[in-house]
Amino acid sequence: MRISVIGTGYVGLVTGACLAEIGHDVVCTDSDASKIQILESGGIPIYEPGLEKIIPKARKDGRLSFRANPAEAVAAGDAIFICVGTPPLPNGDADLSAIDLVARMVATEARSPKLVVEKSTVPARTGQELKRALSVYGRKSNVKFSVASIPEFLREGTAVEDFLHPDRIVVGVDDETTERQLREIYRPVLDRKFICPVHDGKCPDGSAPGWLVTTINSAELIKHASNSFLALKISYANMVADLAERLGAAIGEVVRAMGLDPRIGPSFLSAGLGFGGFCLPKDLQAFVHLAERSGVDFTMLREAERINKGRIDRFFEKLRGALWVVRGKQVGVLGLAFKPNTDDIRFAPAIDLVHRLLAEGAKVRAYDPEAMDRAKAVLPQIDYAKSPYEAAEDAEALLIATEWDEFRKLDWDRIREAMARPLIVDGRNLLSPREMKSQGFEYRSFGRPE
Ligand SMILES: NC(=O)c1ccc[n+]([C@@H]2O[C@H](COP(=O)([O-])OP(=O)(O)OC[C@H]3O[C@@H](n4cnc5c(N)ncnc54)[C@H](O)[C@@H]3O)[C@@H](O)[C@H]2O)c1
Repeated sequence: MRISVIGTGYVGLVTGACLAEIGHDVVCTDSDASKIQILESGGIPIYEPGLEKIIPKARKDGRLSFRANPAEAVAAGDAIFICVGTPPLPNGDADLSAIDLVARMVATEARSPKLVVEKSTVPARTGQELKRALSVYGRKSNVKFSVASIPEFLREGTAVEDFLHPDRIVVGVDDETTERQLREIYRPVLDRKFICPVHDGKCPDGSAPGWLVTTINSAELIKHASNSFLALKISYANMVADLAERLGAAIGEVVRAMGLDPRIGPSFLSAGLGFGGFCLPKDLQAFVHLAERSGVDFTMLREAERINKGRIDRFFEKLRGALWVVRGKQVGVLGLAFKPNTDDIRFAPAIDLVHRLLAEGAKVRAYDPEAMDRAKAVLPQIDYAKSPYEAAEDAEALLIATEWDEFRKLDWDRIREAMARPLIVDGRNLLSPREMKSQGFEYRSFGRPE
């Protein structure tokens, strides 16, 4: 099938590259011409494992191309996947202006029938507005549009694998013809009939993904309800961690046992600095707004948000408890991305943490394996290290803000020798308190006996 992808950010690039990987002809466009320029010249503007393998191959095979001209991209596809950003407005509501702009552009440029697929995360009822917008903006052209919502559940860091091996595909449609078209697009994923670039064709056995056909409203609601639930889970675990700390229990033991209950599940129960990124914080806020507008009191979500924001305060209590005075002290920060295996720093707790350190008068030297270039744009005033060891140099505290795997395996003798004072405050409970103590460190983390 011929597919156009609008927006080449994290979701758009993974969607475009994976649709090409499973055999479709894909043309991608973006309003940011610099991104298209990078892509056309063979670069990849984001760090997402797997893209470096599939994008060049799909381009070489002629199945994936990039166009700065949106009209050319619209003309190229029978299905148009909208993957533009839906950032938060100052009041927390989702900003849908990019979706509106795309609707206008598609409606005015389309010369043949188009299936328009919402991949961006949007509040319920956006699909209805999108249908209306397409018909209003396209009233002179008489082109027929159908609309569907396929919310995206990929996780940055494992996005390619998540696209190709999803646990479920939620398909919000109005009619059977649209559902059939979408089933054809996703058939290789549903039948697992593609040579998997993640597992080199030897994918682990697993059941086929669920194909869940819903209304468009339900599909949109499923995405917001899922992300908000995950946010609640993390905030819940953080509260249990605070309690464990007071009572002398170990949060790791508690959540491990909780997670073995299939009704609870093990994921999203990690205590620490809390959640960030371009999904959970903004989706939680947008969901609260949607509930309020709909006359439903969903205050418990506001609590999850309040608890999450308070994690930086809890972190600082620990830092101050150890350092006494923060002003003037050299501090190393390990991790800037909102999670490991991505360069995405949007709403990253690590970035908030550095801002807070600067406000308190600390001198900061940070290291992240992938996110430093992006961080330099928003935090030009700090020093950046070439390695974790350089970040630790002369530091009176070393703070772990992102759980990159490489931070688990550092040469701790070298770190201890480099530091002015061997103090580690671990915002991700990445290391073992006992081991760090035996290595001669003063070590603080969340919800674990000192
Ligand atoms: N990042 C994730 O992990 C993730 C996961 C699931 C869902 N989502 C949702 O997917 C959507 C995109 O997220 P993202 O992380 O890819 O964002 P992003 O900011 O990385 O990418 C969005 C892209 O859209 C482009 N764009 C904006 N307006 C445009 C327009 N009018 N025409 C063409 N291009 C336009 C931007 O230039 C940008 O490149 C959001 O709604 C997000 O909530 C994101």
